[in-house]
Amino acid sequence: MKFFIDTANLAQIKEAHDLGVLDGVTTNPSLMAKEGIKGIEKIHQHYKDICALTEGDVSAEVIATDFEGMVKEGEELAKLHSQIVVKVPMIKDGIKAIKYFTNKGIRTNCTLVFSAGQALLAAKAGATYVSPFIGRLDDVSTDGMDLIEDIRIIYDNYGYETQILAASIRHTIHIIQCAKIGADVATCPLSAILALLNHPLTDKGLAQFLADAKK
Ligand code: E4P
Repeated sequence: MKFFIDTANLAQIKEAHDLGVLDGVTTNPSLMAKEGIKGIEKIHQHYKDICALTEGDVSAEVIATDFEGMVKEGEELAKLHSQIVVKVPMIKDGIKAIKYFTNKGIRTNCTLVFSAGQALLAAKAGATYVSPFIGRLDDVSTDGMDLIEDIRIIYDNYGYETQILAASIRHTIHIIQCAKIGADVATCPLSAILALLNHPLTDKGLAQFLADAKK
C-alpha cells in the first residue's frame, strides 16, 4: 500500500519524505488555506515546492465547479509539473472533466466520494485515483471502511485500474483496516503515519536491551 501525506505543510512533507516511506502528497483548498497560501501565483509556486520534496504524485484541487472552469484550471495545474494529479470534485461537471482529462492523458483524483455509486462513476470516467472520505463518514455514524470494501469488490469485479486512495484518515486503525481490505493508497496526516511506530512493548524491550548491554 502506498502512503501519501495529506497536508500542504512543507516541513511535514519533508519529515515524511525523510522517513523514507512517502509515496506522494494530497492537498485540498482547506489545507492550502491553513498554510496561508493565497493568490494563484503563490498557489502554483507552492505546488511546485511540494513537487520538489517528493518523487511521487501531488494532488492539486480545482476550485471551479463548472466544466469549462475545471478544464482551464486543471490544464494549468497539470502544466506546473509532471507529478501533478488534478483533483476534481465528485459532481456532474466533475465527471465530465475527468473524462476530458483522461482523453487528454492528464491524471486525475476524484475527490469527495462518499458512496460506491460515485466511485463506480469515477472509474468509468477514467479517474487515476478515487478518494473515499473515511473519517467524514465515521463522523456521521456510517462505517467508512464498508465503503472501501465495496469499492474494492466493484473495481476487482470489472478490472478497473482506478486506484483507491483512502482519504480523511484520522488514526492508525484506519490505515491498518485499509491495508487489510486492499486500498491502493492511504493519504494520512503525519501524526497517523508516525503513530504506526508506537508500541509500549517496543519501548519496554528496547529499554531492557540497552540496560543489559551496559552489564
Ligand atoms: C484528501 O484528499 C482529503 O482532502 C482529506 O483527506 C480530507 O480529510 P479531512 O476529512 O480530515 O478534512
